[in-house]
Amino acid sequence: MVVFWGSWLVVFGLLCTSIKCQIVPDTEDYQNFPLPFKISPGAELNPYRRQQALSFGACKIHFDMKCPNDDITFYLYTKRQPQTAESVILGSRLLESNLRDTHFDPRKPTKIIIHGYNSDMDLSALVEIRKEYLKTQDNNIFTVDWSPLAQGPCYPGALWNIRHVGKCSAQLVERIREFGAEDIHVIGFSLGAHVANFLAISLRPYLLPRITGLDPALPGFVTANTDEKLDKSDAHFVDVYHTNAFMQGKAEESGHVDFYVNGGVLQPGCWAEPRFFACNHHRAPIYFAESINTHKGFWGWPCPSYLTFITGSCPPLDPQVIMGEFVNSTSQGVYLVITESVPPYAAGKYEGPSIEIIKEGPTDWEKYENEILDNADELQYLDRDLYDTDTTSTTSRPFFKGIREGLGRFFEHTLG
Ligand SMILES: *[C@@H]1O[C@H](CO)[C@@H](O)[C@H](O)[C@H]1NC(C)=O
Repeated sequence: MVVFWGSWLVVFGLLCTSIKCQIVPDTEDYQNFPLPFKISPGAELNPYRRQQALSFGACKIHFDMKCPNDDITFYLYTKRQPQTAESVILGSRLLESNLRDTHFDPRKPTKIIIHGYNSDMDLSALVEIRKEYLKTQDNNIFTVDWSPLAQGPCYPGALWNIRHVGKCSAQLVERIREFGAEDIHVIGFSLGAHVANFLAISLRPYLLPRITGLDPALPGFVTANTDEKLDKSDAHFVDVYHTNAFMQGKAEESGHVDFYVNGGVLQPGCWAEPRFFACNHHRAPIYFAESINTHKGFWGWPCPSYLTFITGSCPPLDPQVIMGEFVNSTSQGVYLVITESVPPYAAGKYEGPSIEIIKEGPTDWEKYENEILDNADELQYLDRDLYDTDTTSTTSRPFFKGIREGLGRFFEHTLG
């Protein structure tokens, strides 16, 4: 871990000298932090008052752990006001929060949605989730906006800040629980799924009823221990959806139940999209949003493990289980799901290769292999243990070859 942060800080240091970024500290606390550069004593005052933060251009890293915090804001949407956000002010005590003045109703189920890196709560896939809920359910939908701390190109900064965001989001759960809220479901996308981990840790010994991880972020979490990533110790029930494994999302099983949609790596229909990588990653929240009001449903069949899928085939078999909002909390283990390539994506129960799903992807795979590998390499997306370090030859990439063959078998078996 020390080596990990050390190397990122060196990268920051280099970035700083190369782009002449401004460092604007306002307290002494970080002086003891092992930064690879010196902070000049005459630096300007931090415009963000009372927050111990370092800013590197657009990047911002928090060192204090005081909540509430100006960089983390909470909004509430309800059936009474489905389009208009009510700003939620929190504090360390009920009296300091404005929950009483909002439409929050502790008797109704509560959903808390958390965005990821380089994003905010306006991300259309996350807006979809909120809208689908309020179409048919009478929920309290809280959104956590931590975009000032999640900005690109500051992935290492965002990675650091999620501890802080988790801690401040825990205040929301604490306050609504003081009102008597019990049915609390946290939904985190990408890096937001790991925010949910830190949220859960801050709430201990209380255990959240449910956390949903939507393509939990991979970079930086390959070897992290369970207290530093989303896993099944974080809630009574953790359901996880993989749509861009090995790249922006994790391949590792991370919940009580893990759904690998269309094999979990690449999504049908994304090949034609200009933003190929974002398309695959964003499908996780898009499928989840659709699962809230779908009639057909997304159904998955069991597979012993993801490794079995990659190295074996895991053809469709019963019992099939439903994924998404209405997942059965007794479902455990790994499931494979197949979807349509255009919305509505839900394909219902798998009933043999006769279902009309466009067969694509693996045939085009080679065309994208270099691009994928380049992207993967850039952020050290791949687990080095699995990765053939010879990047000069396209024929000696057994790891990628393995995934490709696994996906090939998957599509052959399921689509005939
Ligand atoms: C969940 O699964 C269990 C075990 O298969 C089953 O007994 C139960 O009826 C299911 N619950 C729902 C709501 O489908």
